[in-house]
Amino acid sequence: MKVLVVGGGGREHAVVDALSRSPQVSKIYCAPGNAGIARQAECVPVKDTDVEGLLSLAREKEIDLTVVGPEAALVAGIVDRFREEGLRIFGPTKAAARIESSKEFAKDLMGRYGIPTAGYRAFDDYRKASEYVRSRPLPAVLKYDGLAAGKGVVIARTMEEADAALRDMLLDDKFGKGRVVVEDFLTGPEFSFMCFVSGRKVLPMVLAQDHKRAFDGDKGPNTGGMGAYSPLPFITAEDERYALEKVLQPTADAMVAEGCPFEGVLYGGLMKTPQGIKVIEFNARFGDPETEVVLPKLTSDLGAGISAILDGETPEFTWDESNATLGVVIASNGYPENVSKGARVPEIEVDEDSHVYYAGVASDEHGNLVANSGRVLLVETSAPDIKSAQDKVYAIIDKLELRGLFYRHDIGFKALK
Ligand code: AMP
Ligand code: GLY
Repeated sequence: MKVLVVGGGGREHAVVDALSRSPQVSKIYCAPGNAGIARQAECVPVKDTDVEGLLSLAREKEIDLTVVGPEAALVAGIVDRFREEGLRIFGPTKAAARIESSKEFAKDLMGRYGIPTAGYRAFDDYRKASEYVRSRPLPAVLKYDGLAAGKGVVIARTMEEADAALRDMLLDDKFGKGRVVVEDFLTGPEFSFMCFVSGRKVLPMVLAQDHKRAFDGDKGPNTGGMGAYSPLPFITAEDERYALEKVLQPTADAMVAEGCPFEGVLYGGLMKTPQGIKVIEFNARFGDPETEVVLPKLTSDLGAGISAILDGETPEFTWDESNATLGVVIASNGYPENVSKGARVPEIEVDEDSHVYYAGVASDEHGNLVANSGRVLLVETSAPDIKSAQDKVYAIIDKLELRGLFYRHDIGFKALK
C-alpha cells in the first residue's frame, strides 16, 4: 500500500514511524510533514486543511490509504470529500468530528445517552455567562466552544481570572466567534483512552496520560501537551473496563443512533473522580503527545489494521504491555502564548528502544533543524518501568545544548508518587 499521512506534528511522525514497520506499506507520504518527518517519509508541502490539494495529491501518487492526524483537516471535511471521490481514508466525517469540534454537541450527546461527564451550561452572551459564573463556587471551568488546539480551556481560581477569560472568549473573540461552556469543576487523575472505532466497533489502545500544563508541577498555562507516558498505575483493569463499557462503547453507539457513525480514532479524555470515571473531553483523532507513547507499544501491523477496519473487518491490535513508554516534549520558549521561533535544534542520538518524533521543525540553508513553532519535538523511550523510562529520557535530554527551548523535568511524576 501507498499511504498518505495528513498533518505535520509529533503525532503524525509517530504514525509514520508505526506505518514504516508495516510490511504491507511500501511507501509513505506525509502532507505537509516537517523537516524531521522528511527523514522517514516523503513530505509534500500541501496544507492539512487544503482538502482539494490533498485530493489531487492522493490521486497523483495513487495513494491506497490516507490517515488523518489533525482535527482541522477533519473539520475542513477531508473525509467527506475523499469518500465522495471513492478514496480510502481513515478518520471521521465532518459531522462525526463534531464530537471534538463542538463542545455543545459532545455535551448534549453525553447528556442524552447517559454518558458520565461534568454538568454544564453554554453561553454566547458575556453578561449572562459572567452572572452565572459569579453565582457559583470557584474554580470556574470555562471552555471556548470550538477548536482552540487545547488552549481554549481556562480553570479560573479567582473571579478576576474568570472575567478576563470570558472577555477574551466572548467579547474579544480571541479564538473566533464561538460560545462558552461553563462546567462543574471535577477532581481526580486524568487519562487518555484512545480507541480505533468504526460504527459500533470499538478497539481499544493502551492508556496514556498527558501533561497539559506548560511547567513542572502542573504550573503555567494549558498547552497542547508537554509529555506523556503509559501505562498508568492508578487506573485499574476494572476502571479500564468501566471506561470502555460505560463511555467509549456507548459513545460509539450513540453516534450511530444519531446518524453520524464515527470511524477513526475516538479519544476519550477521562477523569477518575471520587464519583466515578467521567468525560472531560472527546477528540476525534489521535492525541498528541499520547500517540507518541502509545504507538511504539503496538506489536501488530498498523497499516494492515486500519486497512482491515476500512474493509469492514475486526482486526486484532496487539500491544507490548511488558514495558513502559515515556515521552518528553521540547518546546520553543514562550509556548503556548508567545512562541519565539528560530531556535537551533540539536541532533539527538537515541538507541533502538527510543525515538525522536519531530513537530515544529524546519530546515535551514545548511540542512540544520530549526524550531518553527511551539512544540518542536518529543523524545520517547521504553524501559521495564516508568521510573527507568523517565531516567532514560532525561539522560538523553539533559545533556543537550538547548537555547531558546524548554521542557518539563517531571513527566510521569503522577505515576511515581
Ligand atoms: P480539555 O481541553 O477540555 O481537556 O481541558 C484541558 C484541561 O483542563 C483538562 O485536561 C483538565 O486538566 C482541565 N479540565 C477541563 N475540564 C475540567 C473540569 N470540568 N474540571 C476540572 N478540570 C478540568
Ligand atoms: N493531548 C491532548 C490532545 O491531543 O488533545
